Amino acid sequence: MTRIAVVGAGAMARVHARSCLNLPEVEVTWVADEDGARAEALAAEVGARATTRVEEAVGAADVDAIVIAVPTPSHRPVTELAATHGKHVFCEKPIARTVEDAEAMVAACRRSGVRLMIGHVVRFFPEYVRIHELVRDGAIGQVGLVRASRLNQTPGTQRPWYTDLERSGGLIVDMMIHDLDTLRWYFGEVERLFAHGLSYTPYQPRTDYALAVLRFTNGVIAHVEASWAHARFRTAIEVAGEYGTIRHDSQVSAAIRLERTVPPEPGEGAYVLGSTLTEGPYQVELRHFLACLRDGTPFLVEGEEAIRALELALAVLDSVRTGQPMHFIDGRPARQEAAR
Ligand SMILES: NC(=O)c1ccc[n+]([C@@H]2O[C@H](COP(=O)([O-])OP(=O)(O)OC[C@H]3O[C@@H](n4cnc5c(N)ncnc54)[C@H](O)[C@@H]3O)[C@@H](O)[C@H]2O)c1
Repeated sequence: MTRIAVVGAGAMARVHARSCLNLPEVEVTWVADEDGARAEALAAEVGARATTRVEEAVGAADVDAIVIAVPTPSHRPVTELAATHGKHVFCEKPIARTVEDAEAMVAACRRSGVRLMIGHVVRFFPEYVRIHELVRDGAIGQVGLVRASRLNQTPGTQRPWYTDLERSGGLIVDMMIHDLDTLRWYFGEVERLFAHGLSYTPYQPRTDYALAVLRFTNGVIAHVEASWAHARFRTAIEVAGEYGTIRHDSQVSAAIRLERTVPPEPGEGAYVLGSTLTEGPYQVELRHFLACLRDGTPFLVEGEEAIRALELALAVLDSVRTGQPMHFIDGRPARQEAAR
């Protein structure tokens, strides 16, 4: 049995705490939030103790691991506190607002011998997992072009920290990062990117939109669109390769349609429908975290992987700000002088 302290009692903390209720191998023993009423309410729901003092929960004897779901700038101090107390960490994405903070988190966990996983949950959405398998197994041959969209309302209407570029990183660091991480998982390192967007304009606090074009070292080109200007949440991805396309659109009821121009094997059909959901991706993600802790196997998203995703998101933001393309060398951001 793994005993968990959930730090935060907002939107994502509720998702994770409720997932724990469905998993027999885990118990939430503490909920900490600076807002005492929120902490009390979530703690009561999951049968845990509540506190407004994060250190009380993180340092408690009946806690083995911490789930961090506070605003992004607080990921580092809470992770460092967990490491000090020898507790494993599952932390929401993005790993941090700055690479410096993210590297400090990875270093603190390594020094203390505790494990750190970052919640890049799209890697646990069955549609995106299936597309990963299809691409990896060559279902459509060499991939040429990808279009990925992630569209939503602004979350800042009720939670102003999201609209503060300095705190959340805005649409790009907070939301586009999902697709940046997923595409890097599919296709490897990025060589060059260029982006336009509304960050750094007067629109950003009310609404936001960005479009980035990425070229991967393996030649794949990706168009990545993100919006905090839409009425309904929608994700979509289209992967075009030499033998056909793979498409997913969260607004279409069939989760996956694989439409090939030729069958994978002679005699097979060229059209395959994907499976339907049996367990929510956030719960699958948490189960993965717990299983890896138990078995000592690597997480799908170790801290270093999340740093690479953050670097991509920050480069997109920089491209929007400067109007310049950003370059990478061996998957790491090139110095700006080299980029021009
Ligand atoms: N994986 C996903 O799909 C996904 C979706 C949304 C948000 N997120 C990420 O999850 C994290 C949390 O986002 P959210 O939407 O749950 O935020 P939220 O604003 O809904 O909740 C944050 C909670 O943290 C509390 N809090 C703030 N600072 C604190 C501190 N220093 N100590 C203790 N409590 C503190 C607030 O009182 C609030 O209850 C963010 O990093 C965000 O980017 C991930």
